[in-house]
Amino acid sequence: MQILKSSAELALWKAAQPDCAFVPTMGNLHQGHISLVEQARLAGLPVLASIFVNPLQFGAGEDFERYPRTFEADCEKLQAAGCAAVFAPALEDMYPQPQTYFVEPPAMASELCGQFRPGHFRGMLTVVLKLFNLVEPRAALFGKKDYQQLALIRGMVEQLNLPIEIRAGGTVRAEDGLALSSRNGYLSDAERREAPRLYQNLKLIADALALGRRDFEELEVQALDALYRHGWKVDYVSIRRPDLSLPAETDANFVVLGAAWLGRTRLIDNVEAGRDQDSGARIQGLCFAP
Ligand code: PAF
Repeated sequence: MQILKSSAELALWKAAQPDCAFVPTMGNLHQGHISLVEQARLAGLPVLASIFVNPLQFGAGEDFERYPRTFEADCEKLQAAGCAAVFAPALEDMYPQPQTYFVEPPAMASELCGQFRPGHFRGMLTVVLKLFNLVEPRAALFGKKDYQQLALIRGMVEQLNLPIEIRAGGTVRAEDGLALSSRNGYLSDAERREAPRLYQNLKLIADALALGRRDFEELEVQALDALYRHGWKVDYVSIRRPDLSLPAETDANFVVLGAAWLGRTRLIDNVEAGRDQDSGARIQGLCFAP
């Protein structure tokens, strides 16, 4: 596996491998990331992963400084997963001058996580567009765990006519249901034992929706109460349509999203519910137009 430490090294690699499938990450890799690499390999293209902790998507007081940087271990995992190259640019390479041009996201980016992390999606979309322009991948893969992020990237690619196929990977969970996340490492032992409760409550709502309940607010409040009672500080629990617009009683497909704090750690998760709940959750085999 080649380690490309700058955009100049990336350009040289691309000269020999013009086509690739791309897995952008911020490092501290877990099985969720590795499953994206494995899915990307099904395309039969060389897989390039990036590792870059993007300051633009962290707000003041968020965890940019303490975000775990585990480069050596990450490279070992990527190599074992069959990654062809890892692009790990320095901060000055990605931002040689202060970034003054941004991707302006739609109003949906101010809802859900965006309501609690102002500017986060603007910074995320901006770096993803920069990475796409540098890497020029044929396809890029993102996890469904960051459901709102995935929806915004899909929208950006569609509306800005980027010639990149966006693929989603299903959320990978620990045995007790906790969605794998780089931030799980912040949890104390007691918090880690408590952490699956977020998923459990989102799943309870998803099951109720699948059984035909449509009292959305009541379902959300029940989950909020259950989490508050166990010491969580909840940012939101929200039932949405798969495109993240507000649901109607006549809808058949939903996604239930939540974000909540356990101590100093903010966890997010989501569960799809309804007729088509599995669509796009897993990749059976990537299929690209020639
Ligand atoms: O999901 C992430 O790890 C990041 O938001 C991404 C997409 C790599 C952009 O920095």
